[in-house]
Amino acid sequence: MLQCPLESNTAPKPLNWPESMPSNPIISVKNLNKRYAGGFQALKSVDLDIHEGEIFALLGPNGAGKTTLISIICGIANPSDGTVIADGHDILKDYRSARSKIGLVPQELTTDAFESVWATVTFSRGLFGKPPNPDYIEKILKDLSLWDKRDNKIMSLSGGMKRRLMIAKALSHEPKILFLDEPTAGVDVELRKDMWEMVRGLRENGVTIILTTHYIEEAEDMADRIGVIRQGELILVEEKNELMSQLGQKQLNIQLQVPLDTLPKSLEDESLSLEQEGNTLVYRYNSQTESSGIATLLRRLDEHGIEFKDLHSRESSLEDIFIELVKSST
Ligand SMILES: Nc1ncnc2c1ncn2[C@@H]1O[C@H](COP(=O)(O)OP(=O)(O)OP(=O)(O)O)[C@@H](O)[C@H]1O
Ligand SMILES: [Mg+2]
Repeated sequence: MLQCPLESNTAPKPLNWPESMPSNPIISVKNLNKRYAGGFQALKSVDLDIHEGEIFALLGPNGAGKTTLISIICGIANPSDGTVIADGHDILKDYRSARSKIGLVPQELTTDAFESVWATVTFSRGLFGKPPNPDYIEKILKDLSLWDKRDNKIMSLSGGMKRRLMIAKALSHEPKILFLDEPTAGVDVELRKDMWEMVRGLRENGVTIILTTHYIEEAEDMADRIGVIRQGELILVEEKNELMSQLGQKQLNIQLQVPLDTLPKSLEDESLSLEQEGNTLVYRYNSQTESSGIATLLRRLDEHGIEFKDLHSRESSLEDIFIELVKSST
């Protein structure tokens, strides 16, 4: 019997791998543990595959281990156990090759105050052994709205400009993989939009992006997949769309004509609650099920003589899902 050579060579796809994506990860983290000196365990058996070309958002509360994980992949911190392969290179055994593929925008801003914007970005490129390319540097400075400031000393930049400069530095050597650790902290709304536009552009050019953010709506907007880390454990990795639909809770807010102190006994149900001092009846339901139960609920309100003046529904956001996930741990 003829065998399809492609099929026989295809590695099994990792869990929750998007159907449309090939199975070879650009970053593969296996059984990663990190104990800091003093014994604190910041990462616990983390397994994670990142696919080439995706935008992956790593979410988690303060202290969850996001920066630790990123620092290890980028070779800034050492793992206690486990392996990380980045674009085919072991980050410990083959550090220089692995690192040359990666751009990192660190959470903490570290720059040389007296250097100019142009010089620092050009110097960063040189550090990775790349030949000078002023046209490329000009393009990234323009994309990041830093072109006007190219001759300014870094100390004269605002906080948001410094953060954008960190992005320019991280991109200076044309990395295939870009880590953005809280890139939009302290950046104003307008520039944040521009920044994400630029990140999308990078992705279109084949750059793989891993980001952390505390603005969950940014992850909802940008990410192809979401990972949630909590107390050093990666507790969820899922395609964003899948996550949103799986946990697609909806909420119907019924504004009452007359506030209620309590719900009639026969209406008491865990899906119903009185909020805003009895002025609003909140009904939670799953938008994925065949029947929402709204028609029945409204009929029953009518039977009880409960009148309402307005209705509106809203879909649960990634933020609700995130809060729920993180809450259930504590
Ligand atoms: N150098 C260090 N020595 C000891 N403990 C550390 C060190 N760096 C980080 N930690 C601890 O490891 C845990 C994870 O820290 P990490 O910076 O990775 O969190 P994070 O998820 O990035 O948080 P944030 O959202 O605040 O940036 C925290 O409890 C932190 O105190
Ligand atoms: Mg951090």
